[in-house]
Amino acid sequence: MLKGKRILLGVTGGIAAYKSAFLVRLLIKAGAEVKVVMTPAAHQFITPLTLATLSKNPVATQFTNGENGEWNNHIDLGLWGDLMVIAPASANTLSKLAEGRSDNLLVAVFLSARCPVLVAPAMDLDMYSNKATQINLVRIQQNGVKIIPPGTGELASGLSGEGRMAEPEEILKFIEATFTNASRLSSKKILVTAGPTYEAIDPVRFIGNHSSGKMGFELAEALAERGADVVLVSGPVSLQTKNPRIERKDVVSAQEMFECCMEIFPTCHAAILSAAVADFRPKNVADSKIKKGASGINEISLEETPDILASLGKLKSKKQILAGFALETNNEIANAKTKLESKNLDFIVLNSLKDFGAGFGTDTNKISILTNEGKTINFELKSKSAVANDIADHLVTISPNEA
Ligand code: PMT
Repeated sequence: MLKGKRILLGVTGGIAAYKSAFLVRLLIKAGAEVKVVMTPAAHQFITPLTLATLSKNPVATQFTNGENGEWNNHIDLGLWGDLMVIAPASANTLSKLAEGRSDNLLVAVFLSARCPVLVAPAMDLDMYSNKATQINLVRIQQNGVKIIPPGTGELASGLSGEGRMAEPEEILKFIEATFTNASRLSSKKILVTAGPTYEAIDPVRFIGNHSSGKMGFELAEALAERGADVVLVSGPVSLQTKNPRIERKDVVSAQEMFECCMEIFPTCHAAILSAAVADFRPKNVADSKIKKGASGINEISLEETPDILASLGKLKSKKQILAGFALETNNEIANAKTKLESKNLDFIVLNSLKDFGAGFGTDTNKISILTNEGKTINFELKSKSAVANDIADHLVTISPNEA
């Protein structure tokens, strides 16, 4: 799978650097070409000679090489790689990556790299859980870098906890998945909706719901990782997107979300609507704040909002794929099937508030995918990120290659 792929391996100063030798061997065995860049501190844990021998390429550490002063051109190195992986990534290097510093060759190469970058953190548990490290990880991810999560177990310090670098085999799987995923939905434009909508009662109050937007944002990331150009139409949430392939459009009300989606959908390959759109809105919105004791305040007349999913279902061409979510509390399968059919969907993602850990606000979800061919695929409770991958993978399987 990695035949001919050019992998830049960054090695930083940490005990897990010894595992880099195994990673280089796995990469070479898989057919990749490997160039290693080390920080000076990494030399204390593994010799450049070991990594040069295994990678069959000179190892670069300094901006210049030895007595002849030959330049290790960080720009050329950065442009050479089809993928860069930094394993192990120490807390110190993570902070440099987050700040965009370039005071050693490895971080300068990182700044120059145009390819996808994976980072495998490795450090002691307290350093890993420290707020500063966690903030750095978030910042790095916001710049599109993918983190290979560390494992939990015995650490070099003798303590036990989270921070141990992922095993080389696991890192190899991430690398392979990055190449497989990158092209699976490339050149496909996909519309995703996320979050709640707010329906104004007056300038101060609104009717809303508990959606945090997490499910929809994870879905947008999973699709973008597979190469799709994602337009994410989001209600009011406090989340950030990470992948530069995601174009975000913020809306507040169901009407705004409707208008935005109707405009975008005709140019899309697919749409997956995960937003918790308000079904009703106040018929009349007061111009100024309604005062306590105002006449008629014990009643708010409501009207239905436009059904975005059903409207897209009417617009949908034969080449387009349309999917929705069903959030149910009872008769789950029957209700989801009705939505699937009545809204002309290719599939619907069912989640039930009866399932522990599923639905609003949680970091996890438990879903079933019901298809228009009558299939039901059930999934375990998983992180919303893993759920998003399952949904994106399902979309890949039903997407024609040429579209
Ligand atoms: O945001 P999180 O906190 O992560 O929570 C995720 C979630 C629970 C919001 C998400 O997983 C989910 O279930 N989203 C759909 C919620 C919902 O409104 O379900 P519904 O069964 O009422 O609606 C069915 C479908 O019609 C949905 O795709 C919805 O986006 C769409 N719809 C609904 C009403 C409307 N006026 N227009 C619509 O397009």
